[in-house]
Amino acid sequence: MKVTVVGAGHVGATCAQRIVERDIADVYLVDIVEGLAAGKALDLAQAAPLIGHSRRIEGGTEYGPAEGSEVVVITAGVARKPGMSRDDLLATNGKIVTAIVEQVSAVAPGAIIIMVTNPLDVTTHIAMQVSGLPRERVMGMAGALDTARFRAFIGMELSCSARDVQAMVLGGHGDSMVPLAGYATVGGVPVTQLIAPERLAEIIRRTRDGGAEIVGLMKTGSAFYAPSAGVTEMVASILRDEGRVLPVSVLLQGEFGIEDTFVGVPVKLGAGGVNEIIEVELSEDELAALHASAAHVRETVAAWERLKDE
Ligand code: APR
Repeated sequence: MKVTVVGAGHVGATCAQRIVERDIADVYLVDIVEGLAAGKALDLAQAAPLIGHSRRIEGGTEYGPAEGSEVVVITAGVARKPGMSRDDLLATNGKIVTAIVEQVSAVAPGAIIIMVTNPLDVTTHIAMQVSGLPRERVMGMAGALDTARFRAFIGMELSCSARDVQAMVLGGHGDSMVPLAGYATVGGVPVTQLIAPERLAEIIRRTRDGGAEIVGLMKTGSAFYAPSAGVTEMVASILRDEGRVLPVSVLLQGEFGIEDTFVGVPVKLGAGGVNEIIEVELSEDELAALHASAAHVRETVAAWERLKDE
């Protein structure tokens, strides 16, 4: 099994580390900056005897070694600075992602693409357009991260293990994300029975602003530990055919009443990528929020269509 990770920055290098150290696959790490991916890959290879895994990891600037990859994770691009929205990255990252997917498609045409570069739902749309792959094989990682943030905050609120918190965050990766309070449970107990409505509303607000809170603290970049953990869950579920149910940005074609838009919804991930889109029952408000989220993604895609030839 081989995974290519494009972008050897914070998210990409940490993804590569998690994938080899969890013994999921061999990794080829690519970056446009000469020596960066090769250097980090060599460093990670030298950690192998200490960590105790046998995975191969190499790095470079060329795409040739990506041949034969089952999965390609794309993290290349610029990250947010304080005060920036994810959409502010569109012009730069849209062009970067287009060039990368062209190169990936030439050497690994069948590989499943997991997009991480922001603005997530739009870069995933670009990846599908450029690669021509079916929707089962092109997806964006956002919901796994947003859901992990929601679960972590609920765990902090109740001083309990976040592992025992189950929850689901749908929608676009941005201000329009849709945390589903009604589906959140702790050890099977609905959180609505454990947390007062005003506190829960505050947790949802913090989840929605979870990325910006970290950008505000770090100032020079955006989150990478939890994003890379989200990617790793997806890669493991696909390569090991685990059938994990995770929210993933996927092209909807009528599901939830949404047409031709990438938006985060629960899917079953296994061999071949997206095995099933799970149409959970939503309240009227939640469905309206999901539709608003999809409308925002469509507007950003339209902005990209205007920008891309400039
Ligand atoms: N090809 C390959 N690599 C590229 C290219 C390109 N055309 N353009 C930029 N890169 C590389 C950079 O050299 C850098 O090493 O992408 C890497 C990005 O790393 P960071 O700046 O550390 O950004 P990171 O925090 O990893 O975030 C990457 O993920 O979560 C999203 O919003 C985030 O869009 C951003 C992306």
